[in-house]
Amino acid sequence: MTRKILVTSALPYANGAIHLGHLVEYIQTDIWTRFQKMRGHECWFVCADDTHGTPIMLRAEKEGVTPEQLIARVHAEHSRDFAGFHVAFDNYHTTHSDETRYYAEDIFGKLKAAGLIEVRSIEQYYDPVKQMFLPDRFIKGECPKCGAKDQYGDACESCGAAYAPTDLKHPYSAVSGAKPVLKSSDHYFFKLSDPRCQAFLRQWTQHEARLQPEAANKLQEWLGAPGENKLTDWDISRDAPYFGFEIPGAPGKFFYVWLDAPIGYMGSFKNFCTKKGLDFDEFWGKDSKAELYHFIGKDILYFHALFWPAELEFAGYRTPTNVFAHGFLTVDGAKMSKSRGTFITAESYLTQGLNPEWLRYYFAAKLNGTMEDIDLNLDDFTQRVNSDLVGKYINIASRAAGFIAKRFGGTLLHGHVAERFHADLPGIIEAAEEIAGLYEARDTARALRRVMALADQINQYVDKNQPWTLAKQEGQEAKLHEVCSLLINAFRLLTIYLKPVLPKLAQRADEFLNVAPLHWTDAEYLLPPAHLINPYEHLMQRIDPKQIEALVAANRESLEPTVAPIAVSPAPSFAEPHSPQRHAQHQQATAAPPPQPSPARGEGVGGGAFAPVIGIDDFARIDLRVARIADAQHVEGADKLIRLTLDLGDGGTRNVFAGIKSAYDPAQLVGRLTVMVANLAPRKMKFGLSEGMVLAASDADGKSPGLFLLSPDSGAQPGMRVK
Ligand code: 2FM
Ligand code: ZN
Repeated sequence: MTRKILVTSALPYANGAIHLGHLVEYIQTDIWTRFQKMRGHECWFVCADDTHGTPIMLRAEKEGVTPEQLIARVHAEHSRDFAGFHVAFDNYHTTHSDETRYYAEDIFGKLKAAGLIEVRSIEQYYDPVKQMFLPDRFIKGECPKCGAKDQYGDACESCGAAYAPTDLKHPYSAVSGAKPVLKSSDHYFFKLSDPRCQAFLRQWTQHEARLQPEAANKLQEWLGAPGENKLTDWDISRDAPYFGFEIPGAPGKFFYVWLDAPIGYMGSFKNFCTKKGLDFDEFWGKDSKAELYHFIGKDILYFHALFWPAELEFAGYRTPTNVFAHGFLTVDGAKMSKSRGTFITAESYLTQGLNPEWLRYYFAAKLNGTMEDIDLNLDDFTQRVNSDLVGKYINIASRAAGFIAKRFGGTLLHGHVAERFHADLPGIIEAAEEIAGLYEARDTARALRRVMALADQINQYVDKNQPWTLAKQEGQEAKLHEVCSLLINAFRLLTIYLKPVLPKLAQRADEFLNVAPLHWTDAEYLLPPAHLINPYEHLMQRIDPKQIEALVAANRESLEPTVAPIAVSPAPSFAEPHSPQRHAQHQQATAAPPPQPSPARGEGVGGGAFAPVIGIDDFARIDLRVARIADAQHVEGADKLIRLTLDLGDGGTRNVFAGIKSAYDPAQLVGRLTVMVANLAPRKMKFGLSEGMVLAASDADGKSPGLFLLSPDSGAQPGMRVK
């Protein structure tokens, strides 16, 4: 029976590059959807960029572009990266679309009509300078528990404590540096605590065929014991300024990004239906018989298994058939880290010339359909790809193809090989359904182990029959032809089994085998007698360990000594909407460390005598960067110092104590660009850690006519390298 299946991957935010952590999910989903398509089902895979929210609005502002320009650029980058890894969406849309707006308004309107929306006034931190309410991550201050400075408004990265932004000591806005004030505003809430929602979610989450066991347990915990009402209402609105959809009838109020993000699944599919002439309601209507699956990371289970089904249910749409959550990625057993060079972007992997199918294979070999974290061990990656893919699988074709071409004109055995095949290579055809079952269950790790066991069996047959020896022996022509024909057939079957994981390689194998694109049912039979194959061209190179070294070196943050590791794959597991883990996965480097105050001085006339000559290599060791002064403050008790918060774009922010108080008023510095030494070792000063040094010109004695902070020409952006 042909199934109708709609599949989604989580929508990536439109303000950051795709990295290997993201790719786990897109590759996993792509393998699954390719498998379903190979089985002959009507399966559609849609996704989109998640474009709304404060971080994207501020990012665009920082780059001096409109949010629309930013998201258009990122959409092109994301599309390029996904295509580079052969992630074949049927539609890759954007949440900033008419379709998503339509369904967001529609769902909101229906929830309101159902009495599930409530307006409440809440008090929040407000930035009086920037004139905006501040999301928790844009408020910083001292941890109320351990006193660590510059911690986010929701959790301390030093001691792990979680708290409310109002608990922070000496809070300041990470946007303007201003002290935030409490201000109230009306917000819209989705009443998840309503008994109807509770009852529905209990029944929905406990449906036996739904949710992985770990997820079901987690939801049980979130829902509480029967009779308990643990769910709290969800704040779905944000105040202007905000990049998003304004709520109908509520000027200045916008849908919170997480309200319209999953609705973006519908928006993307609707956009696809219009292009393809498909019936949207067949997939999303209340009585839809189609299957709907969301592949997600375990950190966004709360959104997908609580809010989302409840929204759909009470707005009159069908709910997901299942939500498939995966774990996080670690590299060499640790969180991805810029300083170690393991925060690897999709783009850098490809531009370093690595084959995307190596990674697809490795991830598939690790994913087993559970929420366990997976580790990309770089040595194991090299070893496994080389030994499994090249050594075992490709080897089968390369050993047989030459003889078929040279000795038999490219033609396989004239007689039917089926009988011999079943006798000499038993179980290879029969394995098809078992392997299919493993793909269906997303246990690609076992599926690939099974395929590699078949490859071992086939290689044993090669060793036993030694075609290279047969080729030298008189009267063994027929045997050689038979052995090589069986091997080509065996290679074809393994290609079918590996095709969801290795689509490009399979395409090239189709050309070599001279067959139409392979489907799963093609594994039921062998190639016809006297089938003509094409000349063999090597199908896959081995990984040279030097390529991995080069990849890591290319991703090693040049600010290494002064930038903290990035939390890309939080070891913890399930995040509730506002928990710190929710942010960690997507966060860019929150810079760390520090510098040195006053500018270097020369001697003598003007700048003084010139320093001894240095080589270009000496100069190249100094990492100079354009920095925007995000904040400047007097330092209590210091005569000469101003504390600068420097924004380095993707390089995060730095605190620098600069000896420029004699020449500048802090207020006049905020917002301007300057140049800093970004790789100076952090220095502990009486007033705190200094994480770099800004550059200023002065005369030899540093007194008159004063200090002149360096500025780049207009157009320079924070984080740019100065050479
Ligand atoms: O966590 C994230 O990266 C979100 N952008 C995922 C959204 S998934 C869906 F809800 F749209
Ligand atoms: Zn703390």
